[in-house]
Amino acid sequence: MTERQKSPAEQQSADVVILGAGPAGLTLGNILHAAGIDCVVLERADDAHVRTRARAGFLAANTVRVLERHGLADGLNRRGRPHGTCEFRTEDGSFRLDYGTLGRRELHTVYPQQDLVTDLLARYLDAGGRIAFQAEAQTVRDADGPRPTVTVRDAEGRPGLWRARYVAGCDGRHGAARRSLPPGTRRHHRDHGVTWLGLLAEAPPSMDAVGYAMHPDGFAGHMARTADITRYYLQYEPGAPADAWSEKRIWAALDRRMRTDEHGPLHHGRILQRSVIHLESDVVEQLRHGSLLLAGDAASLPAPAAAKGANLAVLEAELLAEALIDELRRGDSRALDGYSARCLAHIWRAQEFAHWMIQFLHSPVGPAGESFFHESMRRSRVESLRTSRTHQDWFAENYVGL
Ligand code: APR
Repeated sequence: MTERQKSPAEQQSADVVILGAGPAGLTLGNILHAAGIDCVVLERADDAHVRTRARAGFLAANTVRVLERHGLADGLNRRGRPHGTCEFRTEDGSFRLDYGTLGRRELHTVYPQQDLVTDLLARYLDAGGRIAFQAEAQTVRDADGPRPTVTVRDAEGRPGLWRARYVAGCDGRHGAARRSLPPGTRRHHRDHGVTWLGLLAEAPPSMDAVGYAMHPDGFAGHMARTADITRYYLQYEPGAPADAWSEKRIWAALDRRMRTDEHGPLHHGRILQRSVIHLESDVVEQLRHGSLLLAGDAASLPAPAAAKGANLAVLEAELLAEALIDELRRGDSRALDGYSARCLAHIWRAQEFAHWMIQFLHSPVGPAGESFFHESMRRSRVESLRTSRTHQDWFAENYVGL
């Protein structure tokens, strides 16, 4: 039976209660439901918001394999576009890396995340999956025992309660799962000291590559989103509001940093969306706390410099689904006991590469002597990537891989 209605106020139960209908929660829900596991997704937003929330869609080859394994990749295989080239524009000249021919020879698939989430949601509902929209989880209780509960509030603010055997926290970095972690849970946070102005421009892509520009004025980035929409990033003044720069100033900065006088013009257009992104990372030390398990952004937040977020979310969702199926179907808890360590190995690998990318793309701020030292190292890294095949293979393996 498909439940689209808002969550009722009375008590309900499921073997697995999943918090959040993003890539992590919906991938997990689809795999569990297909295996006959009694599960429900609790999502605070409404259906329309979940389907339209625009997010980057830069899917790693492994992510496509996971989705294909579970019959969830029809949309991205029909409408996704392969992508395999980066172009670096620096003070010492520009170069391109066809990373799809390097390392493991894997490509990204460009597929807007809102389309992926819409596909996952449609598949879950069509299969009869249970989901409650506008059901905001408040607290996860008694996770240290075998019968955790989740308190929720529906759109009218009415309280509800869900009983479960396991709760999957897929509700992001600021969700109820993280709020419900035991006191003293270790979180590792890193502020990278860099701020971006993220832009969505109503303009066709200006390059057939992901563009990374390093300039004395700061970093600029270019990523195709669709044939008519392009994502740009500009290194930005920390603390400045998103509307501090006029569109004229934004395009002038992008032209200058992308060196359009050397490489040709950018397609300008209306700025549809702006957001200030302060680059930071964090990792929750343990992803399992009794019968509460974390996946996706609830587990870790990789800095956006390497587009790892949604890819880690799908990877972790499959690992968690397999572990829960082993335990609930066969009473075999080994995979569940090893879940946290397995995910953390992938998370730290992604964090390390995102950190490397941030150091690689941005001129440091700091005391003059230190800046010169870091800046010289940064330019040497660029030269190494430009000239060393070994370095290029390493880059390709980490840029696309997980
Ligand atoms: N109760 C119920 N739902 C909640 C709550 C709550 N208290 N708090 C948040 N949510 C929902 C959000 O509305 C969202 O739909 O949880 C979902 C979390 O989805 P994402 O933020 O997309 O997180 P995740 O599935 O982990 O995906 C991680 O995908 O969004 C991209 O790049 C982004 O790195 C991120 C990646």
